[in-house]
Amino acid sequence: MKGVILAGGTGTRLNPLTRLINKHLLPVGKQPMVSYAIDRLRQAGITDILIVIGKQSAGLYTDFLGGGEALGVSLTYKIQEAAGGIAEALDLARSYIAPGERFVVLLGDNLFLDDLTPFINKFIQQPYGSARVLLKQVDDPRRYGVPVFDEHDDRLISYIEEKPSEPKSGYCVTGIYMYDDTVFEAIRGITPSSRGELEITDVNNAYARRGKLEYDVLHKWWGDAGTFESLEEAGQQMKGVQP
Ligand code: G1P
Repeated sequence: MKGVILAGGTGTRLNPLTRLINKHLLPVGKQPMVSYAIDRLRQAGITDILIVIGKQSAGLYTDFLGGGEALGVSLTYKIQEAAGGIAEALDLARSYIAPGERFVVLLGDNLFLDDLTPFINKFIQQPYGSARVLLKQVDDPRRYGVPVFDEHDDRLISYIEEKPSEPKSGYCVTGIYMYDDTVFEAIRGITPSSRGELEITDVNNAYARRGKLEYDVLHKWWGDAGTFESLEEAGQQMKGVQP
């Protein structure tokens, strides 16, 4: 199984820091943010990893991570020329994933303490053409993609609402996704949202509509470090974690 880390994006909510350096290289605990995503994949036995980065700070990524040898992984890089949404960034992995292959996608600003291994093991049991997402119970789901559960089958998500004003559950869909190569067909089938981006929620809903979106719930701490407040919290939480 391969891994894909999406680390492009402009990180406008962390301005002015992100005018200087890409968000995923900002310090969290004792490491740049992106190190933790690599570590979580390696912990789950995934060592072939594609990192999608923007043009900003591209040289710093290769300076710091190189080919990944020091971290025990093999890294490949792709450049996302302009920010066009998570699904557009994911589409850049198309040539990296072989026909029929399964892979794990991490948003580089999602930091978490769970080991992914048990969730990946469940995904491997799922039929080809289905997907798996990981959820977390949160205080304010309105900031995230929010799942609505299937009334008849408690393994399934019926659909996901992106940043709803009246959330139908107390969970958020985290930036941890498991797909096979059918995801690239799903991406082809979606159109840009009102904010002009190809949304990962639309991709996941393509699976959900067909009854093919399963989920698990993270047990330990999770956060997305997109704001100063959440970046600081992530720093506290990851302080003891040594990638
Ligand atoms: C993205 C996804 C959202 C998800 C979140 C997790 O939101 O669109 O569904 O809950 O990541 O970090 P964004 O951070 O791009 O607003």
